[in-house]
Amino acid sequence: MGFRSLFRKKSATVSAHDEGDGHGHGLSKVLTVRDLTFFGVAAIIGGGTFSAIGNACFSGGPGVVLLYVICAIACGFTAMCYAEFAARVPVSGSAYTYAYVSFGELFAWIIGWALLMEYSIGNIYIAFSWSGYFTNLLHGFGIDLPTWLTINYRAAHDAFTSTKIGTEGFSAWKSAPQFGGLRIIFDLPGVMINVLITWLVFVGTKESRNISNIMVMIKLVVVILVIVVGFFYIDIDNWTPFLPNGFGGVMAGVSAVFFAYIGFDAVSTLAEEAKNPQRDLPRGMIYSLVICTVAYILLALVLTGMVSYKNLGVSDPLAEIFQLKGVKWMLYIVSVAAVVAMTSVMLVFQMGQPRIWMTMSRDGLLPKKFSKIHPKYKTPGFATIVTGFVVGVPMFFTDENFILDFTSIGTLFAFVLVCGGVLMLPSQKVTPEGEPTKGRFRLPYINAKYIFPGIIISIFTFLIIQFPAFFTETIFLKGENYAQSIPMLCFFVICLVMTVLSFVKNLSLIPVLGLVSCCYLLTGMAANNWKWFFIWFAIGLVVYFLYGHKHSRLAKK
Ligand code: ALA
Repeated sequence: MGFRSLFRKKSATVSAHDEGDGHGHGLSKVLTVRDLTFFGVAAIIGGGTFSAIGNACFSGGPGVVLLYVICAIACGFTAMCYAEFAARVPVSGSAYTYAYVSFGELFAWIIGWALLMEYSIGNIYIAFSWSGYFTNLLHGFGIDLPTWLTINYRAAHDAFTSTKIGTEGFSAWKSAPQFGGLRIIFDLPGVMINVLITWLVFVGTKESRNISNIMVMIKLVVVILVIVVGFFYIDIDNWTPFLPNGFGGVMAGVSAVFFAYIGFDAVSTLAEEAKNPQRDLPRGMIYSLVICTVAYILLALVLTGMVSYKNLGVSDPLAEIFQLKGVKWMLYIVSVAAVVAMTSVMLVFQMGQPRIWMTMSRDGLLPKKFSKIHPKYKTPGFATIVTGFVVGVPMFFTDENFILDFTSIGTLFAFVLVCGGVLMLPSQKVTPEGEPTKGRFRLPYINAKYIFPGIIISIFTFLIIQFPAFFTETIFLKGENYAQSIPMLCFFVICLVMTVLSFVKNLSLIPVLGLVSCCYLLTGMAANNWKWFFIWFAIGLVVYFLYGHKHSRLAKK
């Protein structure tokens, strides 16, 4: 095996027209910029907004709004990088394809593997949150499922072993029927929604798009309603203290807040279904990100303004605030909207995953079956069904908190590679035919030579003057657990390296800022979850060397 074969690259000028399954079965080109923006919003506003925001507010207090701004900045720079790639490489596959043209095959495989964490594993968290709200709704109609059918096995087991008497998990463990010594405990609504979504994605893009657009409208209206109604209940005293648990408390919510932004990049997986991908994909991504950022900042202000942040550590915070204020009519509306919102997120992610696999299969890195397009429905049928299993099976033995961190690490990792990839792209002033490129998105080039070192020096100087203990505390004094310091130490090294490279190589500022800000968010992830990330990573490499490397289309050239 030649070392260089690991870095063989796909051509950046390949167009969507060259692709297909080889039998004339292309995907339907039906999506407009409005549809793509809706898809972005459909993927972004979901479990993070209706569920995870509660714990983020609880740990960070009103100051969590800063984290929403930081994440929006990181995602904004990354979206610009995605947009640049999407404009140059208008083929399904998202960051996977982008890595293939800039870093080469091994990195492409790694990123494809990391995207599986974003799309499929992310959907597990959303299915669990969906089930929580759905079970509440059923309760409102007087229907109560047995607890052993509304919770995952691991959560019930943990509740029992830590004797959390009176909790749902504990009662599920005690009341569950047994089969051959094994307790039957699983999240039935979560499993059911996964089956329903898989079917919907299987039968067609157009149908999925129509349903998704309606759902997006409903959730946007409800988020606006929560902000407007909530505004009248704000008590500004709740905003002090602004940082009750310091900045550390704010950063403890990083997985939850970042998770709320994941999804804008899913737009890029629809390249082959867009009418005009080079113009519309970048617009769809950026428009949807802007809409959601404004909504999140207002939502976090309203939540922490209406009640004390201490009341928000619940799984249904948007319902909880109206419960506490006695606004009963909003309770019902919010619960219905939460179910709708999460359904639409699942739909988009479950559409994205098979399309990434389809592209990987066309490249020979996965078996051919993954790129087979269903003759009647024009969707990647086999890959869609496999996605359904990848989401559904782990639901029987994982829990939501682990899944949340795992998804965020994988996604940030993919974002870092996308920003790095843009830095490695050749500058492209003309099309291959020699004509100036018209009508496509272009990432503005701002020379980072002096600006980036200036930003880094200013921030570090500010921190040293304002918080003299900052560096010693973050690096050396993380209790007895020095493993916690490693991510921060790595981050400082990355800042240093990027400062030098920016100065020496005149790098483009936007991707540099995207890369560094995503790396910063990674420092907030728990050390234990990094371990699982590396195990996942190692499994991916084994699969690549056993299959993908041999069967790659580029190997046959
Ligand atoms: N941003 C998506 C959500 O919050 C993943 O559900």
